[in-house]
Amino acid sequence: MPRKILVTSALPYANGAIHLGHLVEYIQTDIWVRFQKMRGNECWYVCADDTHGTPIMLRAEKEGLTPEALIERVQREHTRDFAGFHVGFDNYYTTHSPETRACANEIYRRLQAAGLIETRTIEQYYDPLKEMFLPDRFIKGECPKCAAPDQYGDNCEQCGSAYTANELRNPYSAVSGARPELRQSEHYFFRLSDARCQAFLRRWTQGEGRLQSEAANKLQEWLGPPGENHLTDWDISRDAPYFGFEIPDAPGKYFYVWLDAPIGYMGAFRNLCARSGIDFDEYWRADSTTELYHFIGKDILYFHALFWPAELEHAGYRTPSKVFAHGFLTVDGAKMSKSRGTFITAESYLAQGLDPEWLRYYYAAKLSASMEDIDLNLDDFIARVNADLVGKLVNLASRSAGFISQRFAGQLCTCDESLRALQAIGERQAAIAEHYEAREFGKAVREIMALADLANQYVDSVKPWEMAKQPGRESELQQACSNTLNLFRRLIILLKPVLPALAAKVESFFNVAPFTWNDVHSVLAAGHAIRPYRHLMTRVDKKQIAALVEANRESLTAIAPATTPAAPQKHAEQQEKAAAVAVAQAAVATANGSAHLTLDEFMRVDLRIAQIREARQVEGADKLVQLLLDLGPLGTRQVFAGIKTAYDPARLVGRLTVVVANLAPRKMRFGLSEGMILAASDPDGTTPGIFLLAPDAGAQPGMRVK
Ligand code: 2FM
Ligand code: ZN
Repeated sequence: MPRKILVTSALPYANGAIHLGHLVEYIQTDIWVRFQKMRGNECWYVCADDTHGTPIMLRAEKEGLTPEALIERVQREHTRDFAGFHVGFDNYYTTHSPETRACANEIYRRLQAAGLIETRTIEQYYDPLKEMFLPDRFIKGECPKCAAPDQYGDNCEQCGSAYTANELRNPYSAVSGARPELRQSEHYFFRLSDARCQAFLRRWTQGEGRLQSEAANKLQEWLGPPGENHLTDWDISRDAPYFGFEIPDAPGKYFYVWLDAPIGYMGAFRNLCARSGIDFDEYWRADSTTELYHFIGKDILYFHALFWPAELEHAGYRTPSKVFAHGFLTVDGAKMSKSRGTFITAESYLAQGLDPEWLRYYYAAKLSASMEDIDLNLDDFIARVNADLVGKLVNLASRSAGFISQRFAGQLCTCDESLRALQAIGERQAAIAEHYEAREFGKAVREIMALADLANQYVDSVKPWEMAKQPGRESELQQACSNTLNLFRRLIILLKPVLPALAAKVESFFNVAPFTWNDVHSVLAAGHAIRPYRHLMTRVDKKQIAALVEANRESLTAIAPATTPAAPQKHAEQQEKAAAVAVAQAAVATANGSAHLTLDEFMRVDLRIAQIREARQVEGADKLVQLLLDLGPLGTRQVFAGIKTAYDPARLVGRLTVVVANLAPRKMRFGLSEGMILAASDPDGTTPGIFLLAPDAGAQPGMRVK
């Protein structure tokens, strides 16, 4: 009996671009879903944009749009990016939908009937200028512990201490810059601290295989030791103005974005059901025998393993079968960074002409069922894609298809089914299926590549290219090439969940119906005609990756956008915070007149002490001096500086100066300039000359200037 499975990935916020960090999750989920579908299971994959909340409301306002117009545009962009990476949702919807609203109201009504909703008056900062209550992350001020300026309402980034917004000194609204005042307001709470929720969650989170062991431990910690109640009620309402769903019978009160976000899974599925005749209730009723899986980042475990199952359970719905949390993405061993160019958007990857399946393959090779972070090492990416996909896989076809087309009118002969490599593939299929099922994609890929090695050993042993040169060996050649193409076909079937576009090209080249998982056990019959071979995949060129990084490197002049793109990896709070900072920066800049920088903006300029190691004239340039700067631990930089009229290069060697170290490198006619040294000059030339900055004695190369 085919299984009935509903799968979701976390809903990305509708105010930022999809980037390579997001794609870890969507590619991981998509591979798993494609595997289930190939096996003949009924598997539905739904997702949506997460459209509500204060950051999206403010972002729309900033762009001069209605929130509806903003989320519609972002949904188009997200849909385009996911399709570009072959993420095959059965429905990509929006939480701002009648279906999600209906589901949210229903869940709320049932929780209310169960006595799990309660109202309480709370005191919160209010922005009198903007006339809105401010979430903690939209309040800034001086840290109560270390007095660092411009810290958020919940914790200090300078000294790391945590506090409440009320403790901040000289607080100001990050939205308008106004001084906020404390006001009272009635809020709605989901009573997570209720004994029923406690008891249920203790049982549910320890359910066999429900959560990864690291996640189950985390939950145990949050729940506290048996007998102790560590859970607190969850504030699910926000006051107008808010972009979201108004709470039934509570005018001016809205569901908090995190209340309706997971309900968006239901909404997206309900919308799919209405279009395709699937029975919604069969998947969601309390006694459902279908399976429900949520793929998420480890930062949103709290929402998916506590709030969400507790809501579902007490509203009379089924709860998730399993929650699969993954780690974050690092690039070259570090957090993705805009200044390094490693905060790479999906759009830019595709725009540079890079093959999305390179990334799908690389991620698959790195993914496991654990919550560990995964690293995209760019050199390793190039090496692995070229060695495995082109060198081991596609080469099997390119080395044999031509002979079949040119010498045998495209016809295969009987494949030798006793071939060791061919048999090995059949034998390992079940183990590989288990790896896919268990989300151990790295293990699956390693097994498949070991089989590809066997296939290549076969080709190297029979050497079709030599047979082709020797008259009288035609049938041997046809046999060798038919065997090789059958080996190739089997490997592609095993990799189809990872490489769906390549598999589709191969299906067309072989002139066969879409591969299913069990096609591994068959071979192409004698006389089967293939179509002419067309190139299946190119090699990654180092230059393409360098260009990609360059295209994503944010120069200082480009720090303009009002919001940073949403990163699913960050905790939701931090995320809203990130959006808030930019809004705050913009607000403060406007309040002070556009000529002013905020401290945060200024701090993004990485000024360093540099020692001039070498200085020489530049042939053909009357103003430039070519410098080699020593930035201590940051290494050396080549910089072209327009100071020749004032300085003799020979006199510059050895002296210290100040350099902008995070300026985007600039290609000049004479070479790459990797920074800018600072010098003073009179703009109207009354006092002629150029005056290089120099630090006081004692400063060392690499020291930060601020
Ligand atoms: O963290 C985030 O990016 C959220 N938008 C994820 C929501 S997932 C689900 F609950 F809807
Ligand atoms: Zn502090």
